[in-house]
Amino acid sequence: ENVYKLVIVGSGAVGKSAITMRFVSDTYKKKYDPTVEDFYKKNVEVGGIAGVAEILDTAGQDEFSALRDSYLKEGRGFIIVYAINSAPSFDACQDLYNVVCKVKQTKTVPIILVGNKMDLEDDRLVSKEDGEKKAEEFGCDFMETSAKTGENVNQVFDILLNKVKID
Ligand code: GTP
Ligand code: MG
Repeated sequence: ENVYKLVIVGSGAVGKSAITMRFVSDTYKKKYDPTVEDFYKKNVEVGGIAGVAEILDTAGQDEFSALRDSYLKEGRGFIIVYAINSAPSFDACQDLYNVVCKVKQTKTVPIILVGNKMDLEDDRLVSKEDGEKKAEEFGCDFMETSAKTGENVNQVFDILLNKVKID
């Protein structure tokens, strides 16, 4: 069986769980429940071949407690999320990127930087250009999403799954 181990990280309340739920079950809920640690599976097709995406949805409330090495080590692809209406959540991406690279001991692990809550255009504090620039620095892919409307959520997983190596 082809198993794709993905890990989603980011500050608290940026929408990691909402993105995951949108992808796994095409649902969205407005109520905020901080995550401790959740694990999801979804059947996927990558390059025409059936597989299973296993997604570890981490806690954002304390960035570094969420990033216990053990589960980062298992990850084969990473989604680093900020919210476009939160500058601190964007700033936090640098540390998250550094931790992922350190644990994986490589800069070639597939990563996608995601600016979520793109539906909140009126509250935007991080420009799309800033996101793109940061992704360029990281040498990774970039996408803005809305877990609320579903915009670009499947694309994020498509891009990442196509770059992940299965063992
Ligand atoms: P932690 O588990 O604490 O790290 O938070 P999280 O990153 O998993 O955030 P979560 O998915 O729980 O979403 C936090 C809040 O933001 C919830 O109230 C969501 O409904 C809301 N939210 C998530 N995604 C979006 C989005 O794309 N647009 C809007 N407007 N709200 C969103
Ligand atoms: Mg969560």
